[in-house]
Amino acid sequence: MEQDQLRKEIGRLKQEKGAVIFAHNYQPAEVQDIADVVGDSLELSRLAAEAEARIIVLAGVYFMAETAKILAPDKKVIIPDPQAGCPLADMASRADLIEMKNKFPGRKVVSYVNTTAGVKAETDICCTSANAVKLVNSLPDEEIIFVPDRNLASYVRLKTGKRIIAWNGYCPIHEEIRLEHLLTARASHPEAPIWAHPECRPEVLESADRVLSTGQMMKEARTTSVREVIVATETGLLHRLSRENPDKKFYPARAEAICQEMKKNSVEKVYLSLLEEKPEIEVDEETAARARAAINRMIQFV
Ligand code: 13P
Repeated sequence: MEQDQLRKEIGRLKQEKGAVIFAHNYQPAEVQDIADVVGDSLELSRLAAEAEARIIVLAGVYFMAETAKILAPDKKVIIPDPQAGCPLADMASRADLIEMKNKFPGRKVVSYVNTTAGVKAETDICCTSANAVKLVNSLPDEEIIFVPDRNLASYVRLKTGKRIIAWNGYCPIHEEIRLEHLLTARASHPEAPIWAHPECRPEVLESADRVLSTGQMMKEARTTSVREVIVATETGLLHRLSRENPDKKFYPARAEAICQEMKKNSVEKVYLSLLEEKPEIEVDEETAARARAAINRMIQFV
């Protein structure tokens, strides 16, 4: 089917079936363009919890669809490509986290939403890159376990001054954005400030002008008086930044910072998943109930 025809069919199926399409900021441009809402992890979690539609198509990676299902257990949550995984989320298993909790008894566990449902079930409170610092600051605890991103953990340590027992995980895409990429980008665009996602390495964050989640970058782009920005995150965000701010220029810190997992979804797969109402996300109720409590604590916090 032609792209135009696919888009029309998606619109028709959405109406007929009472479905909404939520897409993450890193989705391919054409998937973002057919979504009802494009957002960051926190925004997508909130939307899922409040959604009234019968079906939620979550165009993102697996943990995002799983989070939506946990928050909206009565809805049918489908993911266009169930193979779209998150290497960072896969770096922490439930069994290993239980072992860590046993090693550090009494410490609260703060988990990034980039985790499996099993890890969330062993978590006291979830966070996203948009609220991690604020949330850890709000806890009375002086020492916490932070899972799974070591770079976000080190940023939280720096900003809160708390003792953070960090899991040794990382996002391979952000990890590959190096200082030398920033220096090259800055040489080409000397007027442009650098905005970096907190999953970047500590030395990259230190050199950046602002450290922002993808959702925060979108907000900042709307109000900033600067005309051009170097963006140190996955390049999918540039589509939305440029589309919503046509008067400003956005340059990738590293043009190769592309998450192939995020790009596994396509307009055709969105169409097929809506047509067949699958692959449907399932989470066992015991795990979901515990994970939901940790995510809800985050949602209620901010
Ligand atoms: P955001 O919280 O900015 O959406 O980031 C999610 C993510 O997966 C970053 O790699």
